[in-house]
Amino acid sequence: MTESVEFQPLTGCIGARVDGIDLNNRLDDAGFAQIYQGLLRYKVLLFPEQDLDPAKHVALGRRFGELVAHPDYPTIEGHEEIMVIENGPERPPDNEYWHKDMTFRPDPPHCSLLHARVLPAHGGDTMFADMEAVYADLSPPLQRMLEELSVVHDQVAGFTPTLLANNEIERLEKIRAHPEEMRRSVHPAIGMHPVSGKKYLGIDDCFVTRFIELSASESEGLLRLLRDRLKQPRYQVRIAWQADDLVIWDNVSTLHYAVGDYSEYRCMQRVTVSRYHDA
Ligand code: SIN
Repeated sequence: MTESVEFQPLTGCIGARVDGIDLNNRLDDAGFAQIYQGLLRYKVLLFPEQDLDPAKHVALGRRFGELVAHPDYPTIEGHEEIMVIENGPERPPDNEYWHKDMTFRPDPPHCSLLHARVLPAHGGDTMFADMEAVYADLSPPLQRMLEELSVVHDQVAGFTPTLLANNEIERLEKIRAHPEEMRRSVHPAIGMHPVSGKKYLGIDDCFVTRFIELSASESEGLLRLLRDRLKQPRYQVRIAWQADDLVIWDNVSTLHYAVGDYSEYRCMQRVTVSRYHDA
């Protein structure tokens, strides 16, 4: 019989830490159900010191739902579901934007599980923002207006500044060559979580280029206002990684930002869940 899982909130808004669980041991269904409910409630869960091997990482991801690979990142040999995110002297940090994973796709993933493999001596934290809380704090007339709007999410627009800065021209050309429906999608400005039914603000500071229904200047002004709002620290949690930490986040209701304040090698491994089993 599973003991009750304890969630220690990390802020007043988002994020919780879960100690005392070794994810190498398969969770029974009752234990997994508690973790899943905790994820929906806190949106970001930190599991310290998880010496997970790739097979266990993938198996844990599969408990949440089907997995999806990212076409533009390397994977681990024999584990194509695990995306490897490497930065350091040869590839300076390139993920310093508030974004969700793969929203340029028609069906963005629901959840990600990121495992810290090699960390710089200092820095390289990841920040998360609660987009349900951001939505809830907008005034009702603005919420109503946003309900009628949709936004373009464009992978090329999101990746271009850092790929150009890092001189990764070939990688950029490869992204440009993806079929349009896999690199550019339109989503509602206000989304609804497929499991909890809660509303969230569907704006980021990376892939979103404009509101479809507004003029260019209206779009720019409204995006500026919303981006100022979503960057307020009251909606955030900041994870200062320790080796082998595993963080699971709900990719529907949050944005994240990889702080690029390091130059040493950093390696993270991510399993991405395309759709929760009960969505
Ligand atoms: C990601 O955007 O999925 C990676 C975040 C990180 O490397 O901290």
